[in-house]
Amino acid sequence: MKIVHVVSELYPYVKTGGLADAVGALGPTLAEAGHTVSVFLPGYRSALEHPDMMRAERCLRLKVEMGDQFYSGEVRRISPRKNLTIYVVCRDEWFDRRGIYGNGERDYEDNFHRYVFFQKAVVETVRLLDMSADVVHCHDWQTGLLPLLLRSAERRLGVWLAGTTVFTIHNIAFQGLFPMRSFYRTNLPGEFRGIDGVEFYGQISMMKGGIQFSDYVTTVSPSYAREIQTPAFGCGLEGVIALRSDRLFGFLNGIDTAVWNPATDALIPAKYDAGDLAGKAACRAALVAAAGLKPSDTAPIFGMVCRFSEQKGLDLLLANREFFLRQDARLVVLGSGDRRYEEALRALARESPGRVFVANRLDEEMSHLIEAGSDFFLMPSLFEPCGLNQMYSQAYGTPPLASAVGGLRDTVTDVDRDPADGTGLSYPPTASGLKEALDRALALWADRGRYAAAQRNGMRRDFSWKTAAGAYERFYESTL
Ligand code: ADP
Ligand code: GLC
Repeated sequence: MKIVHVVSELYPYVKTGGLADAVGALGPTLAEAGHTVSVFLPGYRSALEHPDMMRAERCLRLKVEMGDQFYSGEVRRISPRKNLTIYVVCRDEWFDRRGIYGNGERDYEDNFHRYVFFQKAVVETVRLLDMSADVVHCHDWQTGLLPLLLRSAERRLGVWLAGTTVFTIHNIAFQGLFPMRSFYRTNLPGEFRGIDGVEFYGQISMMKGGIQFSDYVTTVSPSYAREIQTPAFGCGLEGVIALRSDRLFGFLNGIDTAVWNPATDALIPAKYDAGDLAGKAACRAALVAAAGLKPSDTAPIFGMVCRFSEQKGLDLLLANREFFLRQDARLVVLGSGDRRYEEALRALARESPGRVFVANRLDEEMSHLIEAGSDFFLMPSLFEPCGLNQMYSQAYGTPPLASAVGGLRDTVTDVDRDPADGTGLSYPPTASGLKEALDRALALWADRGRYAAAQRNGMRRDFSWKTAAGAYERFYESTL
């Protein structure tokens, strides 16, 4: 099949979260399976600065119509491996900036222009390079108008551009909402301004556009596919989604085992596998040193790595600060984002030096060390479309404490519910739910036989993208 992915983040070129990891692994896996895969990405400064991009060649100059003006841009491409081409849509005015979505304080005011330009440039490139794609697969709000833009271009120009369009929701909490007065820049017929179009409470919702106008909608776990049809998780779009439930599927993400594998990981100080965990002890010692923790074999280390946003359950963690102040335990948190959480966690670290360590930065290497060196991994998310860290931690023999939502529910088996196959602890996404799980974790830690069984069970799980991509492959084929 000829498969085109369109995405705003792609590992290893540019990443703010799991979206980059997911598409960054799905593309190469499909290419390896013999499909012809193209991935479109905006030409952000940080992406163009990646060493591989130095080899990019210009393949197209474009003029993109937006409203009554034309905006020029260019498309560059690289082929990192057989069957895989990355197309980068460049226009310095909009993408040659330090940030991706904003300046750190708030989102860029011209994000609508930026992403309409990106999506229209993709449609143009698909047309001009005659890509005749079997599948055009769009990810999250930054690509939500693309299925509609593509089909309208087909109608307007009388051409055929793509077989199936697929829109994947990685996180429905980010919807890409913009003032309706910008609608003219899409050059779409006026009928799409309304409630049956892209309108959401008077604004343009790119996310709604993707849900309404793609041939199929998918999301990144079966549980999240069910949850987003309910008011508690649908962020106002539950009705729109429920109307498309016959075309909605949930496929679990995988993990990139070339990057996240303790037996080969170049970023950790010692390697290990399920058969011999000696290296994990060395990683633990390195984490203790790096985080300046008071060494202890009895106090379990709880690790956490995430964007600091409400989604990740930092309020539940902070509500349990007493646990980390009083119990014989250690806490290591890596993450940044919402200042409120950064300050509250730093205050907790100041209060308990040697027991709680917090680092507010993006740090790939430290994130690997926390996965490998911790005794438990914390993921008390309020909602979690899929989540990757709970899968990484299972692969690294670090049982996760993951709330029972979305993809966490689908990938973590509770040790007390299923002693034979348990891999971690599952609990309701509340402060008391987390408290109860923390207490159960201490009991598990004290029972070394049970703890080791949970580690082994997790490490033996198959979270590889090979398996995960197989689901997409069968799904694409079924739609053609
Ligand atoms: P989300 O996409 O909602 O942020 P995921 O669990 O899917 O959540 O993916 C998050 C990814 O971002 C993981 O690969 C995680 O390790 C990484 N990550 C988050 N914060 C940091 C950080 N401060 N430093 C390094 N990696 C981080
Ligand atoms: C989103 C979700 C996360 C998911 C990731 C990749 O960022 O918040 O749960 O793992 O996308 O699909």
